Amino acid sequence: MSGIVGFVGKEAAALSLLKSLKNLEYRGYDSVGIATVTDGLLWYGKDTGKLDEVWQKHCLEGLPGKIGVGHLRWATHGGITTANAHPHFDCRNEIAVVHNGIIENYQQLRSQLEAKHRFVSGTDTEVIPHLIEEYMDAGVSLEQAVRQATEQIRGSYALVVVSSREREKIVATHRNSSLVVGLDMDRKFVASDALAFRDQTSQIAFLEDGETVVLDEDIVFLDREGKQSKKVFTQMDPNWNMATKEGHDFFMMKEIAEAPEAMRCALMQDEKLILEMAMDILRSKQVVFTACGTSRYAALVGRYLFSKLAGKFCDVIMASEFQYFSDSVDRNTLVIAISQSGETADVLEGVKKARENGAMIFSLVNMVDSSIAAMSDRVIYLNCGPEVGVAATKTFVSQLTILYLLAFTMANRVEEGVGKIKDVCQKVEEILKRNGTKLRELAERTKDRDDFYYIARGINFAIAAEGALKLKEVSCIHAEGMPAGELKHGTLALIEEGTPVVVICPKDFTFEETLVNAMETKARGAFVIGVSDERNPVFDEWIEIHKVEEIFYPLVTVVPLQLLAYYLAVARGQDPDKPRNLAKSIVVK
Ligand code: F6R
Repeated sequence: MSGIVGFVGKEAAALSLLKSLKNLEYRGYDSVGIATVTDGLLWYGKDTGKLDEVWQKHCLEGLPGKIGVGHLRWATHGGITTANAHPHFDCRNEIAVVHNGIIENYQQLRSQLEAKHRFVSGTDTEVIPHLIEEYMDAGVSLEQAVRQATEQIRGSYALVVVSSREREKIVATHRNSSLVVGLDMDRKFVASDALAFRDQTSQIAFLEDGETVVLDEDIVFLDREGKQSKKVFTQMDPNWNMATKEGHDFFMMKEIAEAPEAMRCALMQDEKLILEMAMDILRSKQVVFTACGTSRYAALVGRYLFSKLAGKFCDVIMASEFQYFSDSVDRNTLVIAISQSGETADVLEGVKKARENGAMIFSLVNMVDSSIAAMSDRVIYLNCGPEVGVAATKTFVSQLTILYLLAFTMANRVEEGVGKIKDVCQKVEEILKRNGTKLRELAERTKDRDDFYYIARGINFAIAAEGALKLKEVSCIHAEGMPAGELKHGTLALIEEGTPVVVICPKDFTFEETLVNAMETKARGAFVIGVSDERNPVFDEWIEIHKVEEIFYPLVTVVPLQLLAYYLAVARGQDPDKPRNLAKSIVVK
C-alpha cells in the first residue's frame, strides 16, 4: 500500500504535506513525491528514497503554493524508480495524481490512450491523469473529469488530484481503499489514513466507497451519482493522536512496551457482543479462521484455545489460499477474519467469497471503519491505538487477549478468564522490565549468524512461527519456526556448529519432549537459546519467563521474542520500523 495526502489552505502546502507524509511513513518508503499549484503553474518534486532524504535533496519545502498533493510509494506496478514515483501527470504536466491501490485494467486503458498520450512510467497509475486530461479537454470540470475517469477503471483506488487548470481546488475519490477528510477552520486535508493529519486537526469525515470530495474555499461531497451530499465531521479518537515515539528510538520498541496496556484495552469489550459471538461460534457447524502473517499465528493460538477450553474444533486457513476452499464454505460456516489493518487484500477477498456463499463473518480488527470491518456481521475492535511500526507487536497480544476472552466466554468461565488475563498482564510487565539487557547482549552475540530456528510444541508452536517471522522481517536474517517434533523430518540437516536454535519450552506438558528436541540440535552443534520458566543445562542462553497457567504461555513467551528480533535489527543497523520491501497493510493480492 502507499500513502496519499492532499492539502488546501492559506499557508504553504508543502509544510503541511511534509507533516502528513511523516505520519504515514509506515505505509511505504520506496519513493516520495509532491505537487503544488500556484499562479496557474504546477510545481513538483519526486524521487526514490525515504521521506527525509528526498525532501532535503529536492528542497521540497521550497515548492510554492497553498494547494498540493503528496505520496509515499510502496511499489506494486513498476520498479522503484524516479519515473515511477508519484505524482503522475498528463501530457502537458497540468494535472497531478497521487494514487493508492491497483488499477486492474490499466494495460487495456494504456493501449487505448497511447495513440494520443505520452506515457513516461511503468505504473498502472499513469492512465488516470491521461484519462482526466481527455475529459477536461472535452470541457468538463476537474471533479467531473475525475468521476468520469473512475468510471473507466477497474480495481481499487484512492486518488487525490490537483490541476493548474483549476488552480483553487483538489479533488479526491476512492473505491476499496480508504480515504479520510480533515477540517480545521480554513485548512482542509485529505489522506489515506486519519493518522496523517492527527497533529493538524481532529475533525474528520470518512468517504464512502464511490464518493468524491472537492476541497477549495468550501468542502463539497458528491455521492456515487454525483449529487451533492451532506457529511458530518466527527472528533478523531484521542488514542489515534498518540502516535509518537515517546522517547523510544523506534516505534517498534514503544509498541512492544505497550503490550500490557494493549491487553487491558482489548479486555474492554461489550460483554453482550462477546457472549452472542461466543454462542454463535459454539452453534456453528463449521468455524474457520482466516488471516495472514502474524494475525494467522494469533488464529492458530485461537484454534487451540477454542478446542482446549470449549471443545470446539476450528480450522485455520491462510487467507491467500482461502478462496480455493470456497466450495466447502456455505451458510453453515462461520468465518472469523483476523486482521489488524482490516484492509489486507487476501483476507478481504476470502471474506467476500465466503459472504457470497452465505457464510456468517466475524472479524477482529484494529482499524475502525476498515473494509473488513464493514464486510462483517460482527466486529471486535482491538482498541490498542495506532501501531505505526510495520511489524505487528502490540496488535498480536491484543488479538490473543480477545481470543482468550472469547474462549473463556464459550466455556462459560468469563469472569475467571478475565481475572487470569489481568494476572498475566502483570507478568508481561515484569518480563519487559527484566530481559532488556540480556536480550541486547544476546543480539550482539548472534547478529552475524545467517539462520535462526525456532521450535516449540502445542499452543506454543504458533509463537515459534511468530518469533521467526518477526526476526526475518525486521533483521533480514533467515529464520524458520516449526513444531519441535517436525525438526527431525528435514530441517535438522541444516543445524551446524553455532546455529542459534530458540527453544520455547515452558514448564508445561510439552517441556520434556521439547527438551529432547533441543538436545538433538545441541548434539549437532546448535547454540540453544531456551525460553522457559525453568533453567536447563541444555540451554546455552536462558531467557527467563514467568510461570503462568499452561494456556497462557503464548502471551509471556512472545514478548521476549519480539524484543530479540528488535535488538537484532538494531544491532545489524536495520530500521525495525521500516522493514525492507514490506508495508503496514498489504492491499495487493
Ligand atoms: C508481521 C506482519 C504481517 C501482518 C500481515 C497481516 O509483523 O505485520 O505479517 O501480520 O501482513 O496483516 P493484517 O493483520 O493487517 O491483516
